[in-house]
Amino acid sequence: MRLAQFAIAVMAFALFTGARAQQPIVLKFSHVVTDDTPKGKGAIRFKELAEAKTQGRVKVEIYPNSQLYKDREELEALQLGAVQMLAPSVSKFGPLGVRKFEVFDLPYMFADENSLERVVDGPVGAGLFKLLEPKGITGLAYWFNGFKEFTANKPLKKLDDFKGMKIRIQSSKILEGEIKAFGAIPQVMAFSEVYTALQQGVVDGEENTPSNKYTQKMHEVQKYMTISDHGVVMYAVVVNKKFWDGLPAGIRKALSEAMSETTKYVWDIAKKENDDAIAKIRAAKTTDIYALPAAEKAVWRKAMQPLYREFEGVVGKDTLQEIEKTVAKSSAKK
Ligand code: LMR
Repeated sequence: MRLAQFAIAVMAFALFTGARAQQPIVLKFSHVVTDDTPKGKGAIRFKELAEAKTQGRVKVEIYPNSQLYKDREELEALQLGAVQMLAPSVSKFGPLGVRKFEVFDLPYMFADENSLERVVDGPVGAGLFKLLEPKGITGLAYWFNGFKEFTANKPLKKLDDFKGMKIRIQSSKILEGEIKAFGAIPQVMAFSEVYTALQQGVVDGEENTPSNKYTQKMHEVQKYMTISDHGVVMYAVVVNKKFWDGLPAGIRKALSEAMSETTKYVWDIAKKENDDAIAKIRAAKTTDIYALPAAEKAVWRKAMQPLYREFEGVVGKDTLQEIEKTVAKSSAKK
């Protein structure tokens, strides 16, 4: 009798573990923008590739548009393992204690996306990812969204126009410095709250890529946009380190391949996504679009120069020099 019970228990256990072995590995990917943006499209492409390459052993669940978590919460959720993958803007790593990522926030650091791509593919990109490991986070790739432009309910054509304006920023000390250097008042706020804050006048303006503005309908509550290209929105695609290290090697390899194909795709579509968003904002006739003339851009760039010295200690002199070297090489190639 006892033996029979034991045999049944063994069989039940075998059935149970067998069923579990069939269960797909669920990878939750949370992000704060809509599906219709460079990052949103990247997440969808990654899901398709990851599921195909693992023959369904991995199931990617995407939670876009801050549906699950806002900016800061999503990083906490990743560390706790409540989600496995994110692609936050690198301007949001400060609260984790890795402020070196803010080097990408230095205004007018990058004139084009080629130099940016070289920087993230080189020692700077790899070195920054190393800083995440002790936080329980593994960096997989850098995705690009685009260049940032300003919007407000008054024209922003000269530095003086910024005086006293409240401008929403991401949680970065360098962005705080940037807005102050413009003579305005920075206000840190989660991305999901920006539309309402603009609508209700909690802030007067904001800076972001055209695709982010358009997909959050910011143009509906902002009368003026200045194409200033004064900064960039760059993402780090990151995973929970324990989850990643615990995957069977073959699965990790397939996901890495899916990620590198997706990364190429995101960099390829980013510019067009933003150009299309500008065209859609123009067509909506809600917002006057002003292209900052080169001479004025030079004035703005000059006004931002003190920030490079001010934040040298945070981002590291070596990192700055490495970036400057890469940018110079990349523009000499053109
Ligand atoms: C932000 O302004 O918070 C954005 O850069 C959000 C994003 O992930 O693109």
